[in-house]
This record gives sequence, C-alpha cells and structure tokens, in this order.
Amino acid sequence: MTAPARRGLASLTHRPACRPGGHPGGHPGGHPGGRRVLYGADYNPEQWPRATWREDVALMREAHVNLVTVGVFSWSVLEPAPGEYAFGWLDEVLDLLHENGVSVDLATPSASPPPWLAALHPRTSSVDARGVRMSVGSRNHFCPSAPEYREAALRAATALVERYAGHPALALWHVGNEFGQECFCDLCAAALRRWLVARYGDVDALNDAWGTAFWSQRYRSFDEVVPPRAVPYLHNPAQHVDWRRFSSDQLRSLYREQAAVLRAGSDAPVTTNFMGFFGGVDQHSWAADLDVVSDDHYGDPQDPASPARSALTHDLTRGVGGGEPWLLMEQAAGAVNWRPHNVPKTTAQMLQDSLRAVAHGADGVCYFQWRQSTAGSESFHSALLPHAGPDTHLHRAVREQGRLLAGLGDVVGTRVPARAALVVDWPAMWAGELPARPSDRLRVVEQLEAYHRPLWRAGIATDVVASDAELDAYDLVVVPSLPLVSDAAAASIASVPQRGGVLLVGPFSGVQDPTTRVRTGLFPGPWTDVLGVAGEEWRPLPDAGVTVRSATYGDHVARVWSERLTARGAEVLATYDDGDLAGSPALTRRVLPGGGQAWYVSTVPDPGVLERVLLDCAAAAGVHGPLPLVPDGVEVAQRGDLVFLLNHASDERAVELAAHARDLLGARVTDGVLRLPPGGAAVVAGARAGDPVATPPG
Ligand code: GLA
Ligand code: ZN
Repeated sequence: MTAPARRGLASLTHRPACRPGGHPGGHPGGHPGGRRVLYGADYNPEQWPRATWREDVALMREAHVNLVTVGVFSWSVLEPAPGEYAFGWLDEVLDLLHENGVSVDLATPSASPPPWLAALHPRTSSVDARGVRMSVGSRNHFCPSAPEYREAALRAATALVERYAGHPALALWHVGNEFGQECFCDLCAAALRRWLVARYGDVDALNDAWGTAFWSQRYRSFDEVVPPRAVPYLHNPAQHVDWRRFSSDQLRSLYREQAAVLRAGSDAPVTTNFMGFFGGVDQHSWAADLDVVSDDHYGDPQDPASPARSALTHDLTRGVGGGEPWLLMEQAAGAVNWRPHNVPKTTAQMLQDSLRAVAHGADGVCYFQWRQSTAGSESFHSALLPHAGPDTHLHRAVREQGRLLAGLGDVVGTRVPARAALVVDWPAMWAGELPARPSDRLRVVEQLEAYHRPLWRAGIATDVVASDAELDAYDLVVVPSLPLVSDAAAASIASVPQRGGVLLVGPFSGVQDPTTRVRTGLFPGPWTDVLGVAGEEWRPLPDAGVTVRSATYGDHVARVWSERLTARGAEVLATYDDGDLAGSPALTRRVLPGGGQAWYVSTVPDPGVLERVLLDCAAAAGVHGPLPLVPDGVEVAQRGDLVFLLNHASDERAVELAAHARDLLGARVTDGVLRLPPGGAAVVAGARAGDPVATPPG
C-alpha cells in the first residue's frame, strides 16, 4: 500500500495569477501569481477590539505579511458555553484578512480548553507524575485520554471545518499547538495498558521486554501496570521509554482524529507545530500524518552556537518531512520571555535567522506573534508589532524583511541537495536522558551538535533522519550517538560502507536494543564487523580528559568518554595514551574492499580534531559545500541553485563568487566579489560558474 500523497505547501506558495475579482478564492485586489515565501505570525485578534483589527490588516499588508495563524488559543471565545459557538468575530477577521491578501492558517483550539470544560468534567484536566491534577488558568492542561475532552475538541474542529472549509482566506489547518505533554491519570493508565497489550500481546512478553525480573517488578497481568508515576528511586528504563512512545502515540491519535475531520471536509493541507529537539513526541513517527511539517524554533540570541544549533534543528525538520519544503511556524522577532534573562535578537539576527530557515528548506517564516499582547503571561514576549507601535526600529525591520522575502520566490519549492545524513531517533534521546547511565555528559543532542557543526561550517547540506530511514541517497552517513537501535536499522546503517559510502559512528552507539536491553558481547554489537573494531569496556574520563596520540590528527586531549577497544580489521588513526588504556584505539577507519569506509570514534575528541575527521569523511564520500572558499565567520548553505551567505563576523567579509553572480537581496557583486557587512546576508544566484542567474522558465 502506498502512502497517500502529502498535500504539501504548494497550494499556499504557488499561486495562479488572479485578476481583481478574479477566480473564486482569489484575492479581491488581484495579484500577479507565481511563487511566494510565506511570511507572518500567530494572530490573536480575540485579545483586541475591532478597531485594532483594521489597523492590523493594514500594517500586515505594508509588511508583506501573507499568512497568519488564527485561533490557537481561542476556544473560550469561540465556544463561550458548551456547544454554543460564537463565529461572528472569526467570520469578520477571516474576511478582513482575505480582503487584505493575507491567507489563514486556521487552528483547532484544543491546546487550551475553556474553564467550563474542567468545571463540568474535572477528569479532562491532566495529572502529573505525583498525582496532582492541573488547574485551569494557564494552558495545555488537558488529558489526551479523557473522552469528554476528546469529544469537545473534535466537535470544535468539526464546527470550524464546516464553517470555514470554503472560506477563501483558508490556506492551512493547524491542529492544536506544540504537542508534547504527558498525563499520568487513571484514564491514561488504562490507555497505556491497551497500548501495551497491542505491542506485546501477553504479559510474559512485556515482562521480558521490560526486564522485570530485576528489582521484583514482575507483573501478573497488564492490569497491574501503571505509568511511571512518582517512585522512591529509579524508574525501569524500558518502562520509561515505552511510556514516552505511548505518550507520543496518544497525542498522535488526538492529532489524527482532528486531522481526519479537517481532511474530510476541506482540501487545505494539515499541520501541527513541532518543537525541534525539545518536543515530547517522536516526530519521525508522526511525519506521515502531516501534510506539511512545521516547527517552532527559538534560538538564544546571546548563544554564539545558536546559528549552528538552529541549522541542525532545521535539518531535523526537513529530514522529518522527507526533504519537502517545511514551515517555520514560530520564532521570536526580538526577545522571548521564558528564559530567566531575555536578550533580544538584533534586527540583523532576525533576518539572518529567517534566511537560515529558508536556506535549510523552509518555504515560510512565521513568528509568535503579530501584535505584542498587553495582558496575560506573554506581554513581555516580542512580536512583529511591538507595544511601541509601527514607527519603531523593530517594526521597520519587520517590514523590510517582508520586502526582501517577497523577492525570494525563486527559492520556493526547491530542495536542499543533501548527500550527507545524521542519524537520530527519539527513543534513543529518551533513553539517553535517563539517570543511572555511565555518564550524563555524553548527551545525544550535544553529540549531534558536535558532529553536525563541522558539516554546517563547511556548508555541507545534511539531513537529520531516523535510523530506519531510506539511506540510499546519502554518500555520508553519520551516527553521532545512538544508544538504542533495532537490528534492522543497524543492518541498514551497516550497508552504507558496503555499497561504497562512508559511515562514521560515534561512541556508545548500538549498545542497546529498542527495549533498552543491553546487547552482550563485544560492542558496538551490530557494527563490530563493519567497523572492524571490538569494544569491551566503557570508561567515562576524569575531568582532565586523556591525551590521544595521532600521527594523522596530532596529539590532543579528548574528554568525557573513552572505551577499551581493539582493532579487528580497522586501521588505527589515534590511540589513548593513558596508563590503563594505553594503545587502545580512540579513532579507527576501515576501508572496505569496494572502497566504502567505516569510521569509529570512541571518545569525545577535541572539537578541532573532530572537525578534521568529519571533513575527511566528507571528502572521502565526495561531499562538499557549495563554495570552495568561504571566509571565516560566514555561514554558507545551498538550496536549489541559490547560495545563502550570512556574515556573523564583526567586520566586513569578502566572498569570491563567479563573475555573473547576483544577490537577490540587492547587494552589489563587483567583479565576482560580494562584500558582506557585519550582520549582513545575501542570497546569491549564479554563485558558481554554471549556476543559473535568472528564474528558470515555468
Ligand atoms: C510557543 C507557543 C506560543 C508562545 C511561544 C512563546 O512556541 O506555541 O504560543 O507561547 O512559545 O515563545
Ligand atoms: Zn490523562
């Protein structure tokens, strides 16, 4: 059976030309048609009087805003009393937006049920691991298993699709918001048991998978199983990981039933907004249920690693969507309000952040939120339109950004040419976050960042994919940290060097099966043969680290982690110089008969060394960035035929390009040299000899 085709973003980004008063659903003022980058924000008109709405749409128009998300938190206004819907205000808002050329991403309101629901049915509110039921007065307090909540949420979604499916402003559906919570109530416990019955069939299989012989945890029947509620000491790790899988599936079923109602009544694509690596849901397992993959991303403007981290998250979002264009649903224009100390972005960072998302495959960049709230918990969170009004530094930059994005139609719908992949799975991240492991310093996401960063610095396009993804399109496959892996996924990863590709595996990978049971024998169990190494002992390092000797990469200090290893067919590129581990390999490479390569890193090398290792792997795989020479401090990325350049340095940087290169943002390229001021950005057509400069026909 083939999966149904995704509806995708094209219905929003590719528009037929429309005469004034033209085709049904067309914008009354007419527009020239063509491709457009989506630009906008969450819009919460229910927080404002009507007069403000008119000002909003006029300002949106000036700012080239073309998509807003409406209704995410409007349940108590939309359904002021059980079963009584108040649509008048929303009709008016959607009409106004449409008249002003702004499309709508209409949200189902299920993220924040109104107080009446909890008053009528207290069990619709979630319960934490200590048994405390959440109160109303914030948001996200719902229990995903409570039938009264599910029914009310579905009824609201049904009412919305019945009313607005045919509205010309409607372009996209947004189910709930940032799914990722857990609920430990009795209803969720019952749902967990049903989920476990479906997964394991009988209780003996569950006992085996969870290793319940340990600490006398053996269950006589599924009825005795509970969520990982408060316990005196450590939780069973297999129970924890299954609980996270269940919680993700439970939210997915909630998403799915709303999405099904929306799809049945409307042709518009359906999405929900993920939260990068923060999310509690296994995005890979959700991917097929989304027409468009969307992500919320709030990089910390004062973190120098933020550009690299953001790029990694974007590569994840694109990977989840199988390389299709995705939507940056939320970011901040300035500061957030949920860090203890909220340093705002500069307006240069604001533009760079948006362009980075586009460079990494986004066809739209949106914000939280359009107009800064004056009441409620987020009145100190930035917005596209600040308290101080439109005539401000920030809002002028917002308008200018809209103008620049409007000139980037050429990029829309194009793919990021990724031939490198980084592998990670949510269950591996969930297991990796548990206590009582050899070290809490070898963190899955930090290892991903460490291995991604050199590729990002070189401008090498990299997809972040699941271990069971189709890997044939990738010449370089990097597994920085994957403690849990199934036999099937391990075999598929092992086949990369066997078919001539390059595989790089990081420490403490492949050591557990998907139930968290440790694989016995030499490690990394499923990959010892292909890597040509045999490990017998994990040895987290003292704070000072250990000296590593390498003729290839120079002597350096490695930290956090080491392993007692022998090479069995691999060439040793670096060895530990520690008394006990002296001579044990820290870095190995096995060249396979067909020319493929399999590299293994058994420690956390010095970042400079790791960078050279990654670049050597990339070179061996024939994978490189778009430009041979990029000055230090300049971020580079390729999408389609366009090359994106972002200057993070504090002074001007000159980038050498082909003579006919042209910056779509308007900077002058003189004799093939582009001068980027500090904080500057360019989107270059014809960057390399042979690259097209103009819009291709069609
Ligand atoms: C999330 C939510 C928004 C808002 C922002 C603030 O992304 O989806 O509703 O709370 O955070 O940063
Ligand atoms: Zn519950």
